[in-house]
Amino acid sequence: MPMTPMKQILDEAKAKGYGVGAYNVNNMEQIQAIMKAANQTHSPLIIQASRGALEYTNFCYLKHLMLAAVEDNPEVPVALHLDHGDTIETVKKAIEIGFTSVMIDGSLDYGHKTKSGSHAPRSFEDNIRVTREVVDYAHAYGVSVEGELGTLGGIEEDTVTDEANLTDPDQVEEFVKRTGVDALAIAIGTSHGAYKFKHEPKLALDLVNEIVKRVPKTALVMHGSSSVPKELTDAVNTCPAVELKMDKRVILFQGQEYNTSCEKDGVRLMADLLAKPNMPHTMGVPISQIQDAVKRGITKINVDTDGRLGVTATIRQVFARKPAEFDPRKYLGPARDSLAKIIAEKMVAFGTAGHIGDYKPKTLADMKAFYAVK
Ligand code: G3H
Ligand code: 13P
Ligand code: ZN
Repeated sequence: MPMTPMKQILDEAKAKGYGVGAYNVNNMEQIQAIMKAANQTHSPLIIQASRGALEYTNFCYLKHLMLAAVEDNPEVPVALHLDHGDTIETVKKAIEIGFTSVMIDGSLDYGHKTKSGSHAPRSFEDNIRVTREVVDYAHAYGVSVEGELGTLGGIEEDTVTDEANLTDPDQVEEFVKRTGVDALAIAIGTSHGAYKFKHEPKLALDLVNEIVKRVPKTALVMHGSSSVPKELTDAVNTCPAVELKMDKRVILFQGQEYNTSCEKDGVRLMADLLAKPNMPHTMGVPISQIQDAVKRGITKINVDTDGRLGVTATIRQVFARKPAEFDPRKYLGPARDSLAKIIAEKMVAFGTAGHIGDYKPKTLADMKAFYAVK
């Protein structure tokens, strides 16, 4: 089966009221883990790659890894999506290597930075202009397009500090009509990465209802949807015990004694650094709020960070138990297994599980014909 256009996967999910995770990948083990989770739970899925992932894999490794994933899992409808495309040039490269969907992040101007070093927001008109250009290009190949209105971030703890970043529901209808996007990323208070909130967040979920009223046919996308579960950050913080033998100026670390010329305080400092948990307390988006968002009309749920945490936690645990391990299969293998488990749980929680055989996947040629008569 070739890769599936994202529009079909999202339209099917929207019609039945379930969410579909879009999981970021950078290497073979992540792709294998996510495909395994989809196979086990019978879930259609979206695999996405950022510009960083494309550079990391030199584009062509990602392309061939995805072709292998599809060959290895012929039953699974999978879309390959460009996450946070910055320019039409990046979009063109992604389409050239077989992506069935692209995001153009037209809400930010990646060509210019503000004094504080962040990318400047684009005006509404400018966002429409760059997004429309991408839609015209991509649809001619049958490729789906995700646009964005509003920007992530600007959120501190459980308070929305910069309301201007949230999506304005009054702009949504005009944006979708004038750009022709298939999916729309909206900002409802989430942000990327592991450090989203310090307390249980209150997302602007009512905005989802408002936006659905304006664009009932468009698939809505929630970025920054990792839950950052405590068990994963605790697991990342797993460190080998450090035992001090200060009187002898010796540190006992992972069963081995190290002599040090440091004074007492220096020895204590070193031991503190070795034993210190590396990730401070943090919270992500609780699964219950994602489920609520799906009920209100979110269809695509972007997850990267939780996968990164799972992989890192497992590798650290392997090394904590067996510091002398040097066979990459002995730590990448368990990391792959734990990632598969994390993603499978999400597929069940988002309601994607069990929908694998609901429809016959379309091809880009089908979609090209569809867009041509639109
Ligand atoms: O939305 C951003 C994704 O988490 C990708 O992150 O640019 O570090 O690959 P990245
Ligand atoms: P997280 O950082 O919450 O995993 O979000 C990922 C994302 O939105 C990718 O586009
Ligand atoms: Zn994102």
